[in-house]
Amino acid sequence: MVKNISVIGTGYLGATHAAGMAELGFDVLGVDVDPEKIEKLSRGDLPFHEPGLPELIRRHVDSGRLRFTADISEAGDWADVHFVAVGTPQLPGSNGADMTFVDAAVTDLARVISKDSLVVGKSTVPVGTARRLSRLLAEQSRQDVDVALAWNPEFLREGLAVQDTLRPDRLVVGTERPEDVDTLREVYAEALGRETPWIATDFETAELVKVAANAFLATKISFINAFSEVTETVGGDIRTLADALGHDTRIGRKFLNAGVGFGGGCLPKDIRALQSRVSELGLDHTMRFLSEMDQINLRRRERAVTLSEQMLGGDLEGRRVAVLGVTFKPLSDDVRDSPGLDVANRLYVAGAHVAVYDPEGSANAAKRFPRLDYCDTLAEAVGSADLVVLTTEWDEFKALTPADLEGLVAQRRFLDARNVLSSAQWKDAGWDFAQLGRFYEG
Ligand code: UDX
Repeated sequence: MVKNISVIGTGYLGATHAAGMAELGFDVLGVDVDPEKIEKLSRGDLPFHEPGLPELIRRHVDSGRLRFTADISEAGDWADVHFVAVGTPQLPGSNGADMTFVDAAVTDLARVISKDSLVVGKSTVPVGTARRLSRLLAEQSRQDVDVALAWNPEFLREGLAVQDTLRPDRLVVGTERPEDVDTLREVYAEALGRETPWIATDFETAELVKVAANAFLATKISFINAFSEVTETVGGDIRTLADALGHDTRIGRKFLNAGVGFGGGCLPKDIRALQSRVSELGLDHTMRFLSEMDQINLRRRERAVTLSEQMLGGDLEGRRVAVLGVTFKPLSDDVRDSPGLDVANRLYVAGAHVAVYDPEGSANAAKRFPRLDYCDTLAEAVGSADLVVLTTEWDEFKALTPADLEGLVAQRRFLDARNVLSSAQWKDAGWDFAQLGRFYEG
């Protein structure tokens, strides 16, 4: 019977998973090499913004069901199941994933495990990793304990991480032995609704489901963004096109929002890691479309900058631009590979004075690009602006009306780079209004 669970790595994924497992009724130990992180988490203090997570952590720390430690040996004779949720960042100077942390976590675990248990990988890894780690675990662990590896990819979205952990769309487990499937079914019993698909498969399929899902989502976004380039040139309404496409149940409307493109800590890195892995396997040609898709994505950022320039009469030098939103998406403070922050920085490099307002992301953004002018309020950011650019669709930006900005801006000029506002409303109010994906009359 599974009673005690350890989670190795308490970053975004690990902290959420640890809290989720406590919520499902297990006693949970979160382990991390960083003592400062452990100390903060023990107080429910998170180094990132995720709705509902601090409360969940605090509740289970208080109930005694969730604790954190920097000493992995505590997990060795205690946990029945160990989840490995450490990061696989992009290697500097390469597209490949850095496997150092995963390898170290599995090796460290193997050396301290002293009771029969299951080690479950959750990190996003190049296909073939689980089979390699399974061998590593067998080599490094004690011969008198029964330890096996399983792979259980995680699909959680930032901003919805708690919900995605407790009520996943589907659960995928890759194992080598049927009894390990049973163990994981027991772990997730409370999270599995009657309809939740449960997919028990081999290591390779489990690893590939994750990267294929990310590649598909990114391709879907770039697909509609490629059509943006057409509608921007010839006319047409990209949003209506997406709606009409989405009504085809084989296609679906989600992830067809045209705009400034995708970013974040997962999609871009995972897609590059996939390209790198297929290349190692001698299969470059199979995923060549992914580089095209990446190019389409990056061209959207460029387009946001050239359109800003065009709206300002061809020169950004000395002009005041307000950028609304620098996180890679709403409900997050994450600015990793953020399209909005990239656009803000490019506008700055082109000579503009860039004032930024973001409900959660300014502190992280300022660490990357300190020269931008970070404002505490929207009113401050748009004050005296020659152009306002909406780059992340936070609810408060989606609710903006021309009246909200009246009297604040120097000139009524707006670029909606996420396609979330009503162009008729802004044009009727006398604004020079443009959207990505639409023909700009100038
Ligand atoms: C993603 C995957 O969705 C998740 O399953 C995986 O576990 C981790 O990576 P996340 O990075 O949280 O999750 O963000 P997601 O909601 O997928 O959005 C990614 C990017 O795509 C954002 O920058 C978002 O703004 C952009 N996007 C999304 C679009 O530009 N258009 C869309 O229609 C949808």
